[in-house]
Amino acid sequence: PFPHYERMRAASPVFHDDQSGSWHVFRYDDVQRVLSEHATFSSRMGGGNPSGSGQLFASSLITADPPRHRQLRSLVTQAFTPKAVDALAPRIAELTDELLAGIEATGSADLIKELAYPLPVIVISELMGIPAEDRERFKHWSDVIVSQTQAGPGNGKDDATTAEMIEYFLALIAQRRSQPGEDLISSLLSAEIDGQRLTVPELLGFCSLLLVAGNETTTNLIGNAVLCLAESPGTLERLLKEPALIPQALEEVLRFRSPVQSMYRVTVAEATVAGQPIPAGAPLVAWIGSANRDGQQFERAAVFDIDRSPNRHLAFGHGIHFCVGAPLARLEARIALEALLSRLPGLSVAPGAELERMESTIIYGLKALPATWQPA
Ligand code: HEM
Repeated sequence: PFPHYERMRAASPVFHDDQSGSWHVFRYDDVQRVLSEHATFSSRMGGGNPSGSGQLFASSLITADPPRHRQLRSLVTQAFTPKAVDALAPRIAELTDELLAGIEATGSADLIKELAYPLPVIVISELMGIPAEDRERFKHWSDVIVSQTQAGPGNGKDDATTAEMIEYFLALIAQRRSQPGEDLISSLLSAEIDGQRLTVPELLGFCSLLLVAGNETTTNLIGNAVLCLAESPGTLERLLKEPALIPQALEEVLRFRSPVQSMYRVTVAEATVAGQPIPAGAPLVAWIGSANRDGQQFERAAVFDIDRSPNRHLAFGHGIHFCVGAPLARLEARIALEALLSRLPGLSVAPGAELERMESTIIYGLKALPATWQPA
């Protein structure tokens, strides 16, 4: 998508798509403004598709505006503060070790399947008290949701999957209501806002956001990181010697291959973006992936550079909707990368492998990442 973004930033930075009726914003300054000026650019239809699985997110944090947004957000921010998340580090490291122990001796594997996918799913499932045997089902659900972000209005398969997910979450919520635990769902169930409990659609919204949206993106951060580093000569060796540089390298991966390429908004009132008037009620797509390659903001924007600093990428959004899961995603990716570098010597993308991207204009990542290394 990157050459397309470059052309759009230069020629049509605010573009109206006559077919879909939506507006598209490509430059860094404009994307940042659209993401954060919530009084003008509402998140009401954020999360994408209002049909099919879109209904899962209809009453969630990511599609709420103030004041409801602030109230809902306060319920989860405590679970994801850097301090709370740091406490998970030993468990994340243990899980990473277990996953790598299964493939270390083989010398080759699909790193998405063996590490990048299962790690975030297991971590969030444990936080939410989801039984281990149910995890495989999320893979299928999130695949369908991701493919739908490309396909537009839902088809039969999507609706069936959505129904299946809703049914699962409702059963989970009912089970926690009768037997509360120490997990996140139980704490959301007992939470009150002005003396009122969350509604069932709001609870469903939280489950879907945490279990699907956060996982797919973290999987892709890990996968995209391996790809970026493998493509950039010398960086893997350098990070192995200086692991303290890994967090900064990950920020560059977030910029260069942003797992979330775009977010939706809708104008509440008439607005002007980069001189272009946009009517009220217009759907709008803020292209994060394009903003993160904008030469007006980043020097040598098309170059992957792990020494880049400052790096004010918008990969986690900007403003009141800034990603709640960012500290967790950063921690998981850091631990995964440290382990990959130290345990899989000579790691590289399998020579000659055809790398296939996921079919989505929102989510950017690989379907599989065949890799090789010197077997232990
Ligand atoms: C919001 C990206 C991981 C939970 C967002 C937004 C972006 C984003 C761009 C802003 C949406 C908007 O402005 O409309 C990412 C990326 C991730 C990641 C790139 C991984 C690399 C996670 C994880 C979780 C999570 C691990 C939770 C476990 C959320 C939630 C919101 C959010 C709850 C809504 C926040 C709000 O509306 O106030 N994320 N995310 N994300 N993310 Fe993430």
